[in-house]
Amino acid sequence: MKKTLFILTLTAMIISCTCQSEQNTNSALDVINTRVSVRQFTGDKLTDQQIDTILRVGMAAPTAVNKQPWAFVVVDDAEQLSALSQALPSSRIENGASHAIVVCGDMTKALEGEAQGYWVEDTSAATENMLLAAHAMGLGGLWVGVYPIAEKVKRVSDIIAAPEYIVPMCLVVLGIPNEQPAVKDKYKPENIHFNRW
Ligand SMILES: Cc1cc2nc3c(=O)[nH]c(=O)nc-3n(C[C@H](O)[C@H](O)[C@H](O)COP(=O)(O)O)c2cc1C
Repeated sequence: MKKTLFILTLTAMIISCTCQSEQNTNSALDVINTRVSVRQFTGDKLTDQQIDTILRVGMAAPTAVNKQPWAFVVVDDAEQLSALSQALPSSRIENGASHAIVVCGDMTKALEGEAQGYWVEDTSAATENMLLAAHAMGLGGLWVGVYPIAEKVKRVSDIIAAPEYIVPMCLVVLGIPNEQPAVKDKYKPENIHFNRW
């Protein structure tokens, strides 16, 4: 009797684990497939805890040779946000954003030679992770391009007082969403090739 009970409990645990894992997979895919750029925010502030979670998920991204050649400047000061908004009019910061995280490449941590340029992919991976985290948390996020536009890089560097080895790659503008943009279907089978072009 005891043995039967043990086997039944074990089976139930295995089934529950499998279901849990399938649910996790589905919710991860849902988050990825339903993320959209948000450009209208309520003006309410995100908590330090929410920003901390987003930064941690950003730094969980893969990087070439695990160099992690990045730095993140969290901007929530009204004057600094206004300066960034003026420097990057397409940032929509003035539409009630709470924070802008300036995602930067740190050239002292980047690879050398031809591989140095991988810092762009590395910081892009962190950026997408942060946007996905924000969406998973019910927050809104927008990727605002900076690098490789030299004038934008200079303006943002000046505002955040970046040392010369720090290159702003983009902004992740964050806030509580005040719009629900439709998800764009970007799947195009013609973009896919198998084995050869
Ligand atoms: C490198 C890069 C730069 C971007 N810069 C801006 C920007 O300056 N302003 C803006 O409103 N959106 C910007 N976006 C967001 C794109 O416009 C958006 O991702 C695209 O239209 C697809 O929409 P979705 O994010 O809702 O899927 C940028 C995205 C990337 C990847």
